[in-house]
Amino acid sequence: MALAISRKLSMIAIQLVACSLWLAACGQSNTDTKFQQYYVQGEQLYLKNCSNCHQKKGGGLGRIYPPLNKSDYMDQHFDEVICAMKNGMEGELIVNGKKYNKQMKGIPSLTELEIAEIATYIYNSWTHTRGLVEIQTVTAALQKCPE
Ligand code: HEC
Repeated sequence: MALAISRKLSMIAIQLVACSLWLAACGQSNTDTKFQQYYVQGEQLYLKNCSNCHQKKGGGLGRIYPPLNKSDYMDQHFDEVICAMKNGMEGELIVNGKKYNKQMKGIPSLTELEIAEIATYIYNSWTHTRGLVEIQTVTAALQKCPE
């Protein structure tokens, strides 16, 4: 009995390892695999496009660049954050009770997939635990961006 269970557990373990080694074999239906892919890609894109200002660990920079590691703004304004990546944002903003007011330029060349990956990364790092951000969610948010 115990042997059968431990055999079953080791089969599951082998499948998990196989899954992470051959991502393609597991396909898109595996949400965990997809989450990992988005997260890893998102981290690279974050380091390339965002960390100059918001810093590697999302701490921001003084009163100039607001933090992402802990941000009540991010939690409450998901759609606006998606729009900001593509179109930028400006005007006064309050993050964790502190005022910021400096323009952030958008990156119009980011694809919806790339935005979903960055969002999956920033919304599941540091203090955030939102879970996978799907492309369809990004598409829907972008349709509501202010002109
Ligand atoms: C050139 C510097 C710069 C870059 C690069 C940049 N931002 Fe920003 N970001 C800002 C500034 C400045 C603000 C505040 C805008 C305002 O005052 O209206 C901001 C605001 C934000 C906010 C909302 C405030 C908060 O802290 O929650 C989020 C989220 C955000 N940026 C995410 C990103 C992401 C993701 C990227 C990369 C795709 C990025 N930013 C790239 C400067 C930058």
